Amino acid sequence: MSAPYNAAVLEPEATTPLIMALPKGRILKECGPLLARAGIVPAPDYADEDTRHMRFPTNDPNLDVIRVRPFDVATFVAFGAAQLGICGSDVLMEFDYPEVYAPLDLGIAKCRVCVAEPAATAGSDDPSRWSRVRVASKYPNIARRHYASRGVHADVVELNGAMELAPGLGLSRLIVDLVDTGSTLRANGLVVTETIANVSSRLIVNRTALKTQPEAIGALIARFRAALG
Ligand code: ATP
Ligand code: PRP
Repeated sequence: MSAPYNAAVLEPEATTPLIMALPKGRILKECGPLLARAGIVPAPDYADEDTRHMRFPTNDPNLDVIRVRPFDVATFVAFGAAQLGICGSDVLMEFDYPEVYAPLDLGIAKCRVCVAEPAATAGSDDPSRWSRVRVASKYPNIARRHYASRGVHADVVELNGAMELAPGLGLSRLIVDLVDTGSTLRANGLVVTETIANVSSRLIVNRTALKTQPEAIGALIARFRAALG
């Protein structure tokens, strides 16, 4: 028989499982081996792209994982809905949440955030002489900050995909997007003209949760650190 519930003697760390937010898509696939090395085994349907479930128990009764859109991982963690997460540094740069702490570079899903322009006109003009520029991007804050740092106002047309079409269709002069192999740019007649930042995925934690549950969260960070080792 279980012990009677007594909120006064229950530690916060013991009451509910921690929640780790994982991004759907390419990072989820790359995460699999890392989770395994960290000894975290989610319920099998977590890897099933067709499941309608979003929250999954793991082999650790004190840890559940949730599967969310890559751009939303940082938001779940920043607001404390999840205590931990795995997230691209591009997303962290875009949102810049002070409540999110990123203690570990997991070295997966590596790419770059770049400025790209049509190959035919790239380099034909000096960007330092622009007063404004129209940019298509799913990273409005990164794009605006990048150009603001050199005194240029970026008018950002927000798109969620297929940015590479924008310059050719007159939607923008250039794009700010992720580049890995460069094949998407090449296929659409664009070239990289600047690299804004290198990107990889990070383990992230909610700062308040780390203060209130240091042992449980610290132990998980240590497991990931060992898995990287
Ligand atoms: P959604 O499907 O919700 O629109 P998304 O298209 O942003 O999400 P992904 O393409 O899976 O999702 O990208 C998720 C993360 O993977 C990015 O935030 C980035 O950190 C990394 N990433 C994206 N594209 C690449 C790439 N070509 N090579 C390596 N890593 C990438
Ligand atoms: C990402 C990114 C680029 C592409 C770059 O898109 O937005 O389009 O990868 O990779 P490459 O340099 O190797 O070609 P993704 O494949 O995630 O598709 P999406 O834009 O539909 O999310």
